[in-house]
Order: sequence, then structure tokens, then C-alpha cells
Amino acid sequence: MSDTLTPTPEDKFTFGLWTVGWTARDPFGEATRAPLDAVEAVHKLAGLGAYGITFHDDDLVPFGADDADRDKRIAAFKKALDETGMVVPMATTNLFTHPVFKEGGLTANDRSVRRYAMRKVMRNLDLAAELGAKTYVFWGGREGSETEASKDVRAALDRFREGLDTLAEYCIDNGYDIRFALEPKPNEPRGDILLPTVGHALAFISSLEHSDRVGLNPEVGHEQMAGLNFVHGIAQALWHGKLFHIDLNGQRGIKYDQDLVFGHGDVLNAFFLVDLLETGGYDGPRHFDYKPLRTESYEGVWESAAANMRTYLLLKQRAAAFRADPEVQEALEAAGVPELSTPTLGEGESWRELREDRSAFEEFDADAAGARPVGAIRLEQLAVEHLLGAR
Ligand code: GCO
Ligand code: MN
Ligand code: MN
Repeated sequence: MSDTLTPTPEDKFTFGLWTVGWTARDPFGEATRAPLDAVEAVHKLAGLGAYGITFHDDDLVPFGADDADRDKRIAAFKKALDETGMVVPMATTNLFTHPVFKEGGLTANDRSVRRYAMRKVMRNLDLAAELGAKTYVFWGGREGSETEASKDVRAALDRFREGLDTLAEYCIDNGYDIRFALEPKPNEPRGDILLPTVGHALAFISSLEHSDRVGLNPEVGHEQMAGLNFVHGIAQALWHGKLFHIDLNGQRGIKYDQDLVFGHGDVLNAFFLVDLLETGGYDGPRHFDYKPLRTESYEGVWESAAANMRTYLLLKQRAAAFRADPEVQEALEAAGVPELSTPTLGEGESWRELREDRSAFEEFDADAAGARPVGAIRLEQLAVEHLLGAR
């Protein structure tokens, strides 16, 4: 194995405690693996070269645990972090497992459930701040409905906004250096989830009181479940300055949330995603939110954790080779890709000068321009060849 393919903490690879810790219970079958201790997860992931670990409140401390048990578990977790140097860059709240959240958390029709949800978030925000997390994720798993009549969507968005504004206020007043990252998903577990895509979430964020502190945590599979191009979504999130965090995994088309290993879905899109993350100014964690297959034992769990990181590093290596290839640079030039960065108007030009520019219209040969080839296939094939190691 070459050095560039061995993960180190500098690569900033992180894993959800709930990913390697998934015991593989699904709607049709019982768990196939025994529960994983958080301390063991920290040590194992550190040994594989990860940088950090993330968690939902209930991953670390079971729902309803008493204070003594809670303190004990948190202390053991902190000790494991100290021993390994692993960090906690992100944390989040479970507002979906307990029946109390069956109809929603921050947007439940029942006001008392919404107040309870906010308090649950506040309690874990305190712990997140204590552990040095800089990002707090909001995945609205139960914020949605299966039926139209049962949910007033506009009122739900009001309550979602109220919840996030209040919790942002909580961070500001307590001096927590934490930003929020909303995670869109179109469906599952609800029939329809609020803020289903990157685009919906971006529009919603602009309506928040502390919108500067709120960005996105897009997940590969979630956009692909909606049939969308993840690379385009990430490019737009970066363009808005809203890519606060990212959930990497694999998905094969429009179906249930597969949470496959990163790259084990649309590998060409993953190639261009890594290319974009590595060159587009994102310097946050490369966070894997996947599920080790139900068919695997713990041996397979750790193999899959390593596979996520190795695949990312392979794609990073291949994408760099693609960019450095003189033939690729020439093909990019031929396709006019760099030209798109040139503004459409000249310096100091307004619509007035454009209106007077005969070369832009009266003398413009639209037929000749329409006949010019782009060379997109040659370019894409060069990417495929680099991806497959043929160049
Ligand atoms: C899912 C989601 C979750 C969230 C997690 C953190 O589809 O189950 O991706 O795994 O990422 O709850 O908020
Ligand atoms: Mn998911
Ligand atoms: Mn996720």
C-alpha cells in the first residue's frame, strides 16, 4: 500500500458512532451484531487512522439513563478520546427513535413534544460544546408526514425556524462556538420529510434569524434518493458558503436509504465529488455516515470503515492525476471549461454597450457557434480512464 493511501488524522476522516455501532436491525429482521461499546469504537477507529468520532446523544448515553450512568459513560468516552487523540468535531440529537417523536420533534403538532425536543437538543449542545464540537447537525428524520391533512407544512416551517432561532440564541448566549448544519433527506423514515433537498434547505436557511450560523450537512445518498446530482448540490452549497459538514456514503439510485460504503454506489460521481472537495475550498471533516452491511460480522465492520477511507484516498489520488494530465488540460480548454469563468460583460460594460455591440448579435454567426463541438465525451472518458487506473 502506498503512503498516500494510508489514512492519517490529517485526512480528517470521521465516523458516526451509530455507523460502526449499527447492530443491523432493519424493518424485517433482528440485529445481526452485538452492541458496540463507544470506547472500543474510539480505539478501533483511531487504530485505522481516523481523525474523529461523532454521536447522537442517545448513541453515547442510552435514552432515559440516570445521571450517574450518564456521567460514567461520558467520562469513559472522554478518557478514550484522550488516550487516542481522537476529536469530536460534530454532534447531533436523536429526535427520531423514541415514540414521543413519532409525529415530529421540533415540528410535532403537539407543543409539549416540541418543548421537550428543544430541551433535549440543549442538553446535548452543552456536551458538544464541552467536547469541542464546532458543528451541530439537525437531521429532521421525523419532521414530516405521510398524509397531507395531518400536517400544516407552513406552520411546521414556522416552528422549525422558531426552534433553530431559539437554539442558535442558546449557543450565542452561552458563548458556544458551534454552527448548525441542516441535513436534507427526501423521505425515510417519514413518507415525506421537510427540507427534502439541498435546495429546499438553502432557501429555508435564508429565512433564519441567525442564518450566518446555519449551513448544510448534505449526504450523498439522500440527494441521490431524490434522483439529484450530488456534485451539483455540493457545488451550489459551496457557492453559497454553506457547506459546513458532509455525510459521505454510497447509494444506487432512487430507492431506500442504502448507506453503502463511500464509492460503492455511483463511483464516477464520487470521483468528481472528491475532486470538488479537494479543490473547492472545503476544509471540514470527511464524515462517513454509512451502515456496514447486515451480512457482516465485526470483522466486516472494521473492513468497511477502512474501505471508506481508502476509497476516498484512492479517488483523491486519481482526481489529482486527472487534473495534472496535459491531455485533460487540453481537453478542458477545447471544451471551453475555463472560459466560463470569464464574465459575460467586459470590464465597465453594461447592457448599454452590449446593446451597441454588433459583433454580439447582428454580426454574430449563431449557426457556426451552434455547430461547434464541445468534446464532452472525450473529457469524461479521460476521467473514467483515470478512475479505472488506465492512465
Ligand atoms: C439517516 C441520516 C442520519 C443522520 C444522523 C445525524 O438517514 O439516517 O443520514 O444518519 O445523518 O442522524 O444527524
Ligand atoms: Mn442516510
Ligand atoms: Mn446522514
